Amino acid sequence: MQELTKGVLLQRAGESLEVAGRSVQYHLLASWDGTEVIRQFVPQGKWFGLRPEEGWTALETLHIISGEAVWEGAHQRVVLRAGDSLTGRPVQEPCSLRAVSDVTAIYVSSLPVFHLISNEVARLRELAVAVETKDGYTREHCARIQSLSARVGQLMNLSPTEQHYLLYGAFLHDLGKVRVPDAILKKPGALTENEWAVMKQHTIFGREMLARTPLAGAAPILEQHHERLDGSGYPYGLKGDAIRLDAQIVAVADSYDAMTTERIYHPAMSHEEAVAELQREAGRLYRTDVVQAFLEVVSGLEPEIKRKGD
Ligand SMILES: [Fe+2]
Ligand SMILES: [Fe+2]
Repeated sequence: MQELTKGVLLQRAGESLEVAGRSVQYHLLASWDGTEVIRQFVPQGKWFGLRPEEGWTALETLHIISGEAVWEGAHQRVVLRAGDSLTGRPVQEPCSLRAVSDVTAIYVSSLPVFHLISNEVARLRELAVAVETKDGYTREHCARIQSLSARVGQLMNLSPTEQHYLLYGAFLHDLGKVRVPDAILKKPGALTENEWAVMKQHTIFGREMLARTPLAGAAPILEQHHERLDGSGYPYGLKGDAIRLDAQIVAVADSYDAMTTERIYHPAMSHEEAVAELQREAGRLYRTDVVQAFLEVVSGLEPEIKRKGD
């Protein structure tokens, strides 16, 4: 890249900031202050389009530069050609297009969406799922914590950027367990004092692992998701308002899910028992407003989502 005048960069063809994707290729052309401009190259026959992300309120525009794509609804078929655009503000339902020929499109988003598709983030997500599975959860644990946290975040009016990092912080909350030895992670009996000290480090490991990634903004959530209001949590024993709201949201969602999941060392509690437990601990371990919002969220869920173990 070359600076033509102060603050203005010339980017020659093929010089994108980052490229992701295997079949559909995404080139990050520019990003600033949360806004991103991405060029997409979609080979003939592949799918692309706009997809809603839970808890995500971005302006998104997809502008076709060349080629032809088709959208098929229940009763209609719409062809999009060069110069046509799709805009979501925000996207509420998936809108999938099929490339009839090779398509090049420009995609602009008011929130950093490139993360969703970048190879690095995909790898972190895979690691997080792998480690929760090792720790005795099913693969849905991460997605469930993410979805519950996102709904609580929306109810508590987090800003779009806070909400963005909450989504990732929630999904990746236990990522740091990757660095905890299996002998400790999978130990069926009680941990020794030293082993427990290593286990607690997963919060700090998690922060370190995100530090130099596009998701650095979510690192403090990983670090603080085991802090408790009365100072009994770890790694620092933070109290009250010293604990971030987003980390408290993840803490409540994670505790609920841990209680209602059968683990090697405890059977699954029922939804009602877990709710009673959260109510008991509101104001002591968890922020009362977070517990209230969480209970509002789970009370509105389908019975199979508020669950009795997997
Ligand atoms: Fe954890
Ligand atoms: Fe967890």
